[in-house]
Amino acid sequence: MTSCFNSGAGWPEPVVRVQAVSDTCGDTIPERYVKPLPERPRLSPASDVGGGRNIPVIDLSMPDVDATSRAVAAACREWGFFQAVNHGVRPELLRGARAAWRGFFKQPAEVRERYANSPSTYEGYGSRLGTAKGGPLDWGDYYFLHLLPSSLKNHEKWPSLPYSLRGTTEEYGEEVLHLCRRVMRLLSSGLGLEAGRLQAAFGGEGGEGACLRINFYPRCPQPELTLGVAGHSDPGGMTMLLVDDHVKGLQVRGPDGQWIIVDPVPDAFIVNIGDQIQVLSNAAYKSVEHRVTVSATEDRLSMAFFYNPRSDLPIAPMAELVGPGRPALYPEMTFDEYRVFIRQRGLAGKAQLESMQKAAATAADGGRRQLVHQLAATEHIISRASWSVSDA
Ligand code: OGA
Ligand code: NI
Repeated sequence: MTSCFNSGAGWPEPVVRVQAVSDTCGDTIPERYVKPLPERPRLSPASDVGGGRNIPVIDLSMPDVDATSRAVAAACREWGFFQAVNHGVRPELLRGARAAWRGFFKQPAEVRERYANSPSTYEGYGSRLGTAKGGPLDWGDYYFLHLLPSSLKNHEKWPSLPYSLRGTTEEYGEEVLHLCRRVMRLLSSGLGLEAGRLQAAFGGEGGEGACLRINFYPRCPQPELTLGVAGHSDPGGMTMLLVDDHVKGLQVRGPDGQWIIVDPVPDAFIVNIGDQIQVLSNAAYKSVEHRVTVSATEDRLSMAFFYNPRSDLPIAPMAELVGPGRPALYPEMTFDEYRVFIRQRGLAGKAQLESMQKAAATAADGGRRQLVHQLAATEHIISRASWSVSDA
């Protein structure tokens, strides 16, 4: 069993791999993975849950760029999510990347443990976010790595097995980066701004950050009691999610507050707005809460490419979107500062953005440092519906 544990630097207690729990727990999952009743998922088919509604599917190969931009903007205003088809990333590359990472999670535990991560950077093989001792755990392991800025990219921190992994991940990262830059232009035009404006707020092409989180959700004997990832919004700019080609699991909080099961289109990317674009767009685009359910019969793999602003740039609502009757809903904060409290406390529904918004309303000087301090000192975070931002 020792190979399943890692008491590595920085974690408050030994880290247990969910893969090992799945292999050894029989029909009952350990208490730490059991979610409180109101958080437990409903696993019924999409049509029962979302009343037949689902996130929009958008063809990114349409020649009419204005129409594409309008469709993307409408999806991100209403849902914060869409599925992108004909996005230009080759299907063989999508399949190759998924296969390589499945290969990593199938390596013997000793091989995986060579890359065990710590909470200082989260790079490597991990099984939890946040460092609260005894806190609830999600039913998933992951691998986290940096792609941009290139000063943070280090192939030595990526698995060396299977052999195809590093090359495939590199190529995958480059292609998805190009796709992100295209979608940024569509999002910017969709706000009535010049196409390069949003990208400029991110630090320009070459200034952005990008990282990859590969999630592996092992089979779970009691999927109705737990979650692969509890409800959260993505803290960064925008996420390009590649999901498993045959196992469903992603649920999105729909505009009416109901959880909707996403029915993935094969080889599509599921694109979603993160907190930084919600802030830059002054809440025109929504960073919507989502969560992951797990399966009793099958493992599931997903790859989340996080596209972020340059981490030391102040991020605040863009000046063009603020004016009389349209106050800035958030104070200025760098992504580095924002990440401090995500890393301490893990992901937590929409609580971070909500507390930022409250702080903007109450802090007379709007001082960032004071705000970060205030947020880090908040003890209890409650996962809540995502629509409070637009309701406010
Ligand atoms: C994430 C995430 C969804 C999934 O990694 O932030 O939301 O389907 N993943 O794995
Ligand atoms: Ni997410």
